[in-house]
Amino acid sequence: MAIAVRQFDAVVVGAGGSGLRAALQLAEANLKVAVLSKVFPTRSHTVAAQGGVSASLGNEEPDNWHWHMYDTVKGSDYLGDQDAIEFMCRKASEVVVELEHYGMPFDRLDNGKIYQRPFGGHTSNYGERAIKRACAAADRTGHAMLHTLYQRNVRARTQFFVEWMALDLVRDAEGRVLGVTALEMETGEVMILKARATLFATGGAGRIYSASTNAFINTGDGLGMAARAGIPLEDMEFWQFHPTGVAGAGVLITEGVRGEGGFLLNKNGERFMERYAPTVKDLASRDVVARAMATEIKEGRGAGKDGEYILLKLDHLGADVIDKRLPGIREIAIKFANCDPVKDPIPVVPTCHYQMGGIPTNMHGQVLGSGDRIVPGFYAAGECACVSVHGANRLGTNSLLDLLVFGKSAGEQVVKDLKGETGAMPELPKDAGDYTLSRLARLDSATSGERVSDVGAEMRRVMQLHCGVFRFPDSLVEGVRKIKEVAERTKSTFIKDKSKVFNTARVEALEHENLIEVALSTMVSAEARKESRGAHDRSDFPNRDDVNWMKHTMWFKDGNRLEYKPVQLKPLTVEMFEPKARVY
Ligand code: FUM
Repeated sequence: MAIAVRQFDAVVVGAGGSGLRAALQLAEANLKVAVLSKVFPTRSHTVAAQGGVSASLGNEEPDNWHWHMYDTVKGSDYLGDQDAIEFMCRKASEVVVELEHYGMPFDRLDNGKIYQRPFGGHTSNYGERAIKRACAAADRTGHAMLHTLYQRNVRARTQFFVEWMALDLVRDAEGRVLGVTALEMETGEVMILKARATLFATGGAGRIYSASTNAFINTGDGLGMAARAGIPLEDMEFWQFHPTGVAGAGVLITEGVRGEGGFLLNKNGERFMERYAPTVKDLASRDVVARAMATEIKEGRGAGKDGEYILLKLDHLGADVIDKRLPGIREIAIKFANCDPVKDPIPVVPTCHYQMGGIPTNMHGQVLGSGDRIVPGFYAAGECACVSVHGANRLGTNSLLDLLVFGKSAGEQVVKDLKGETGAMPELPKDAGDYTLSRLARLDSATSGERVSDVGAEMRRVMQLHCGVFRFPDSLVEGVRKIKEVAERTKSTFIKDKSKVFNTARVEALEHENLIEVALSTMVSAEARKESRGAHDRSDFPNRDDVNWMKHTMWFKDGNRLEYKPVQLKPLTVEMFEPKARVY
């Protein structure tokens, strides 16, 4: 069957912060750019980011990018590439001020400068004390950022394909990426969007876990497409569990609460973080706080009827501060936890929040395939990409920074690459789109099999049970066996009543096919890494092992194969930060 083709200079998949920042760069360079999004752009998951975006502006107290770089390297448990981290931290002030000039409604200090608050793992003078580095718009920073970037794109005449889902990469015999196949969700029409440059900004995949702060749209579509096209996935064992998801609901309660002076209590009313991180306490990095909370719960000091959660106390901040700085949190607590934080503590638990790994890229957003070779025509930025600046654990607010810095640099790289291309656009291969059509045909023709929702629920259960905050050797081995079984079952999912639930059920099935690649790569990579580092904590190897494991994992779909590559310890211009014990 022939598929309609539309041609652009660049196709951006995903309209969250990184997609919109990259698209802006392209559209302002007068390129013909299409942005595909499963939802209306301002509903992308960046909208849920709350506490701030980091930049060493020093608006409230002295700060500089070198301290920020140190904190990020340390936060990553020395797995982050120091050249990329230097690049990001040095660029931070520039991209935040740029956003301010686009009209981003940041909160302000009395002197008119951008308001900044403390966040976990961000410190002054190489770990001395917590520092105010998170530039905030109340507790709705992502919302403000996304609307600002969207409006700027409208002004630049970016073309949006709303409620379109990208399905597969189109590559030619030389391995060059020439666009994507995509589904218009309303009509079911499949099209090839052909382009000289294809940029993935598809966000995270936190829906592989049953308890997640992630939106339902976060299904790892970019990672699934990359894996099916033979591109490796990097460092997939590292998943961040945010310390404060609402117990039972998973909704995010920003770390900004602790930045504003809130703190965690166990059932005895003890401020237990003083024991785990004596210097910065509740503002230690997220892996440290999440493990401390899980330990308190495990050892019987959790609050609640079954001792199943921790309490986040903020009533002492007073209603005025809460309403001014944390209005969204008050609303979330009332709606999802049935408590008003002006009076009562919020019940919270560590909840899956962010993937540190992803599609391997360099700091210019160019995707690195097998052997670290640049894949021509293919770029990625934001949570779906692994640059790697977050290593084994990301610092809060570095995600919004990552998407601004690397969205912009990927956009700049595309502009540069396309300016250098003068010849005719390469032809699509004769069989372009056939693979996608065969996937759809299987789903549409299956008359029996398993419901996608059942297989998906099993995937989430396996991931939650076998690959959570604490990891155990036998459980990981069992997890690999089980998740491979779920992957096998995915091949025989079917859509029961095609006439009634046509495209929503199809989309759910296609999303699950992406999620399962993420789940498989996570479990296999986690089982293989025989050390504890950042968010990867193994009971049988409780320490970091720099001699054997200071390296990035590369997972290939083909045979669940693993390769490793060295961490870039050498920064761009400064001395490297030598790995040392990580205490807060
Ligand atoms: O806690 C938060 O506001 C989340 C921020 C982040 O993930 O960077």
